[in-house]
Amino acid sequence: MKIFDNFYETSTRKSMKVIGYAGSNSAFSKSICMGEMLKTILKEQSIEMELYTARNNIVRECIGCGKCFEEGTCPQDQQDSMQCIREKILEVDLVILFSPVYLNNVSGAMKTFLDRIGSWVHTLTLSGKLGIVVTVTDQSGQEFVSYYLQKILLQMGCHVIGEYKVVALEEQNPEETVEKIASDILKVISNQEQYRSTDELETIFQHTKKRFVGPELEQYKGASYEIRHWYESGMAECESFQEVLNLRKSHCRSDTCGV
Ligand SMILES: Cc1cc2nc3c(=O)[nH]c(=O)nc-3n(C[C@H](O)[C@H](O)[C@H](O)COP(=O)(O)O)c2cc1C
Repeated sequence: MKIFDNFYETSTRKSMKVIGYAGSNSAFSKSICMGEMLKTILKEQSIEMELYTARNNIVRECIGCGKCFEEGTCPQDQQDSMQCIREKILEVDLVILFSPVYLNNVSGAMKTFLDRIGSWVHTLTLSGKLGIVVTVTDQSGQEFVSYYLQKILLQMGCHVIGEYKVVALEEQNPEETVEKIASDILKVISNQEQYRSTDELETIFQHTKKRFVGPELEQYKGASYEIRHWYESGMAECESFQEVLNLRKSHCRSDTCGV
C-alpha cells in the first residue's frame, strides 16, 4: 500500500481534528504533560486531539534506504508504530510538535520521528494543514529548535500558526501556555486559515515544483514516486500554492466540513 498517497482525504469532518507528537521518552516529561493538558482542554470544546509520544510508541530510526522518496513506502513501518501515526497525521487539520530541547537541538526522539516523515518535504504532504510548535527547555536553545521545527513543517507544506516556548528555570507555568495554545486554536477554527497561502509557502512550492515537474521529468512518473505524486495529486498543474490549497478545499465537502 502506498501510505503517503492520500492527498485529498481530510474531507469528512464536523470540526477540527488535531494530532500531537511529543518527542520525549522521559517518565516526567513536561512536553507530554502539556500535550495531555491540551487534549483535555480541547475535549471540553468538542475538539478531538490524539497525542502520540516517543515514550508510548516505537519509532525506529530511519535506515536511509530511500524507499520513501522512491516508492512512497518505508520498510521500518512493518516493525513499529509509524504507519499508524503517519495515517493519523494525514487525517487531521492541525499538527502539533512538542519537543524538548536537548543540547541546543531537538531531542533525538523528535529527530527520529521527523526523519521518518522526511520525504514529505518533497511531496508537500502537509498542504492544507495547520501546524503549531511547542518547545520545552530548562533555560537555553529554544530559538533554534523552534525555528527548525517551523521550517520543517513549512517545507512539508504546512501553514504554521504558532510557536510556544516553556522555560522551566524561569518558572513559567506550562498550564498558562497550554491555555493560550487552546484559545489560539479555537480562534483559527472559524477562519479557514488552513486554506490561505503565505509568501513562504509560495516560495517553497515553486522551488519544490521545479525539482519534480517539467517536460523532461514527466517521463519518469512510472519510476519515481515523488514525480508521480506531483502529477497524480494535481499539484503539477497548479501555478501557485494557493491553487493547491483551493484544490484541497474543493475536495472538502461543504456540507460536512466544519473548518
Ligand atoms: C540530554 C539532555 C540535554 C539537554 N539539553 C538542554 C539544553 O541544551 N538546554 C537546556 O536549557 N536544557 C536542556 N535539557 C533539559 C531539558 O530541555 C528539559 O529537561 C525539558 O524539560 C525536557 O523535556 P521533557 O520534560 O518533555 O522531556 C537537556 C536535558 C537532557 C536530558
